[in-house]
Amino acid sequence: MCGIIGYTGSENVKEVLLDALELLEYRGYDSAGIAVMEENEIQVYKRAGRVKDLREKCAGKAENSVCGIGHTRWATHGGVNDTNAHPHQVGRVTLVHNGIIENYRELIADYDLKEKLQSETDSEVVAALLDRFYEGNPEETIKKTVSKLKGTFALVIMFADHAGVIYSTRNVSPIVATLCKEGAMLASDLTALCRFTNNYFVVPEYHILEMKEDSIKLTDFDGNEKEPEYLTADWELNSAGKNGYPFYMEKEIMEQPDAIERTIANRIVSGMPDFTAEGVPDSLFTECDRINIIACGTAMHAGLVAQALVKSILHMHIDVDMASEFMYSDPVIDEKTLVIAVSQSGETIDTLEAVKYARRRGAKCLSIINVKGSSIARESDYVLYTNAGPEIAVASTKAYTTQLSIFYLIVAKMAQLRGVYDTEQTQSFIRELQRTPEVMKKVLEKRRDIHVLANKVLSAKDLFMIGRGLDHSILLEGSLKLKEVSYIHSEAYASGELKHGPIALITQDTPVVASVTQEKLMSKELSNIKEVRSRGADIVLFIKESLAEDIDSQYQTFLLPDMRDEFMVMPASVALQLLAYYVSSDKGFDVDKPRNLAKVVTVE
Ligand code: G6P
Repeated sequence: MCGIIGYTGSENVKEVLLDALELLEYRGYDSAGIAVMEENEIQVYKRAGRVKDLREKCAGKAENSVCGIGHTRWATHGGVNDTNAHPHQVGRVTLVHNGIIENYRELIADYDLKEKLQSETDSEVVAALLDRFYEGNPEETIKKTVSKLKGTFALVIMFADHAGVIYSTRNVSPIVATLCKEGAMLASDLTALCRFTNNYFVVPEYHILEMKEDSIKLTDFDGNEKEPEYLTADWELNSAGKNGYPFYMEKEIMEQPDAIERTIANRIVSGMPDFTAEGVPDSLFTECDRINIIACGTAMHAGLVAQALVKSILHMHIDVDMASEFMYSDPVIDEKTLVIAVSQSGETIDTLEAVKYARRRGAKCLSIINVKGSSIARESDYVLYTNAGPEIAVASTKAYTTQLSIFYLIVAKMAQLRGVYDTEQTQSFIRELQRTPEVMKKVLEKRRDIHVLANKVLSAKDLFMIGRGLDHSILLEGSLKLKEVSYIHSEAYASGELKHGPIALITQDTPVVASVTQEKLMSKELSNIKEVRSRGADIVLFIKESLAEDIDSQYQTFLLPDMRDEFMVMPASVALQLLAYYVSSDKGFDVDKPRNLAKVVTVE
């Protein structure tokens, strides 16, 4: 949550900061601000609203800056207004902050800072404390200040009497940095840097980074200089752009066949799943007697699909936990538990804390992550990267389906290793996985038909999605997608449960979206659909093509291209993503930035 940027170099500083903030805006878009340094003077421009509003505010100003910092905010402490926007400036100190300072009230009292503060934020308290301690030595001041802080923080700081220099330190909240030919820069994530370079390093916790135009110095809190450990992102430099699509969400939906291809290609050797390149030992899959998947949001929904597959194919004990609940639920975890953490960003704080907790309890942790070198990746024993490329739209699409494709590989691997599948069965399962990009393309080619279906639910206030088994798992994600981008209240229900309460809410104004992709459940699912139809609900039906004989012509139907039942999640997910997307764009919403949401949730 909150995007932060710092830059010192040869390019137009203001433009670099504003462009970067636009790329980071998915981390929060309540307000935006920059502070730029010209000689020894620091100017702050900030306002509630989007980066484009900030751009207008600074038009024609601050053209000759030598360095600057910027922030896009997801409000936690204090309302959404100009004063609470970052950067915060107190005396000689100007800073931006991502995270939460838990003891800010005590700090205000202990150091008598009240008079210095203008905003309601915890962040401004850190600026005031830095200024209180500052006697000309930035490093000592930062160390002393950090020693008083409780909570999580990524801080980027300028001192008025240190022209052209930016300082940074962090605990938990992420910062990546780089030195390239255009100068030195840091950001809360890589998306903002990859316009300039693919090489970056993660700033370690409790270190101080000093950035000048042509140098970067990293020191630990004991003053020892450290060599940054550079990583290379395999994202294309321009892949964070919209490529002519009106919204990132559409672009990212369309990218899925390629993303899946990239995710699975190098992990299939002689038709068999293979994780040797990643150093994942077979013993990880053979020595466990239970699996716990921990994740949040869409990533957790990928886990629910995996749970259904593991149960039906591997017959193993598997739990899926919301990461935010995991530690507080006294989970049954020990050395025989394989924990699989799933996260697009690799920074979701609840998932990160859950991984640390599980490892403390002796579990081995394999994570499925999109962002290389992210915090969860670094905390895990093993990592399988999804290779989806940058995902910018807040609503996750290609991250979800690439997570699923890794789960298919894991299930195949475990089935083979545990003797559930022989070689031929494993290869046949993998061949079906390899078909998914082609099958998804067929859905994408028929996206206009889904656009027509979207019209049928456009004016709904409430909506239900119903299905059984894997269909229910798919719809949980489809329903989340719809509600987050279209603001329609949508609930996914296991069709059999409908009669135990929710059917009371069905009227002719409550459309029902149904998914029927599992042959063994089809007849029961169709009966449940009839029950809601007889109560007046309009039906939008996504059904596997080969199951679609004798379908009531009153249903608005989309035929999903055939795959083995276990894989129908893939085409169905794409169809449901498109449904949500078209509803949102037809309603005229900012599809990529739904209200109140942020893509990377770094506060608990
Ligand atoms: C936020 C995002 C979701 C995402 C969830 C988990 O809520 O808006 O799209 O699924 O966080 O994020 P992660 O990065 O851990 O997958």
